[in-house]
Amino acid sequence: MTTIVGLSGSLRGGSFNTALLHATASLMPGDATLAVKTIHGIPLFNADDEAAGGIPAPVQELKASIAAADGLLLSTPEYNNSIPGVFKNAIDWLSRPNADIPRVFGGKPVAIIGASLSGFGTLLSQTAWLPVLRTLGTRPWFGGRLLVSHADRAFDPAGQLTDAALREQLRKFMADFVHFATLGRG
Ligand code: FNR
Repeated sequence: MTTIVGLSGSLRGGSFNTALLHATASLMPGDATLAVKTIHGIPLFNADDEAAGGIPAPVQELKASIAAADGLLLSTPEYNNSIPGVFKNAIDWLSRPNADIPRVFGGKPVAIIGASLSGFGTLLSQTAWLPVLRTLGTRPWFGGRLLVSHADRAFDPAGQLTDAALREQLRKFMADFVHFATLGRG
């Protein structure tokens, strides 16, 4: 069984990116599962707090989940043409302490998806993640691209992804990413 950890970069209750992650979980290939995790509960990073109190429990739990997973899927919103601060903050915490980066992120297959209201659907925020993924020593997957533009039209009020073409695109995206994530697995 292949396990991918999925993280949404939005804290909003009605988040399109969280809804996209849940849609993804229902479209996984049979031999794989998407474990939807959350960045809720992760505090603002402050090196003084880290020095005084160490790594907060929600960060430690998420680090363990990512380290144990075969891959990581980021569902990223786009704020001002880049990464939303809350999502970057979470990844910054997950990169602490430095010495743990290889265990948590080293060689980790990573795919990025995203949903936004504009016609360019997170193109720029997905691109903005690339230096971060490189710095963490991950193995980003570039075999597909999945961005949901005009997200308010792609989901119904209950958060279901109703666009059939997008659902099919997402199914193929994840099948291909899971295949990539299992390559080179020991
Ligand atoms: C946005 N939004 C936005 N959308 C976009 O496509 N490009 C952008 O640069 C921005 N910039 C931006 C900045 C800020 C501060 C906010 C609050 C919003 C709109 C964004 O796509 C929309 O709020 C989505 O609904 C955010 O994703 P979630 O929360 O639905 O997952």
